[in-house]
Amino acid sequence: MALFGRATRPIVTPLSVGHAADCADLHGASFSHGWSSFDFERLIAASSSFGDVAYDGQSGKLLGFVLSRGAAGEAEILTIAVATTARRRGIGRALLERHLGHLGSTGIAVLFLEVAENNRAARALYTAFGFTEVGRRPSYYTAKPGEVAGAALVLRRSIG
Ligand SMILES: CC(C)(COP(=O)(O)OP(=O)(O)OC[C@H]1O[C@@H](n2cnc3c(N)ncnc32)[C@H](O)[C@@H]1OP(=O)(O)O)[C@@H](O)C(=O)NCCC(=O)NCCS
Repeated sequence: MALFGRATRPIVTPLSVGHAADCADLHGASFSHGWSSFDFERLIAASSSFGDVAYDGQSGKLLGFVLSRGAAGEAEILTIAVATTARRRGIGRALLERHLGHLGSTGIAVLFLEVAENNRAARALYTAFGFTEVGRRPSYYTAKPGEVAGAALVLRRSIG
């Protein structure tokens, strides 16, 4: 299991609207279709949203975040990302661990997510947390010209 490096001592706390701009920056660096700061403000402010952030306790820099939306005992992870310079140090694991506890404490019993079939890192993380495949959506992600559109897997995990 990865350990936090000396220089990176993450603190994990609930996500708030004040994190929107930093989340948008980190999201834009992690995905080809980034979401704007305004998108994040709207999503975080919604009463059905649950989120957690990891930040560096020394510099205050955002290291990663996870955002879900849920209702009636079920939730879906909308997005999770860790800063490219902070990956493979256990931050994704710490975020997800905290997030599952957070969701469980609000009465969420089942968690779903979509992941690109070719996203090796994320799939390994989810497998380590006991998510199982419950669906596959072929040609789900848009492809660049000359590329084949990628499939999405739908994963599920019980909480509690
Ligand atoms: C997926 C992501 C959040 C993982 O964050 P992270 O902080 O690097 O992950 P961790 O260091 O906590 O790793 C936890 C486990 O995940 C798996 N994992 C993470 N990165 C991996 C990689 N590059 N290759 C293989 N397995 C990987 C491993 O099982 C790892 O455990 P180990 O280090 O003990 O082997 C990060 O790679 C990321 O932000 N990717 C871009 C955004 C993204 O794809 N999000 C998911 C969308 S569904």
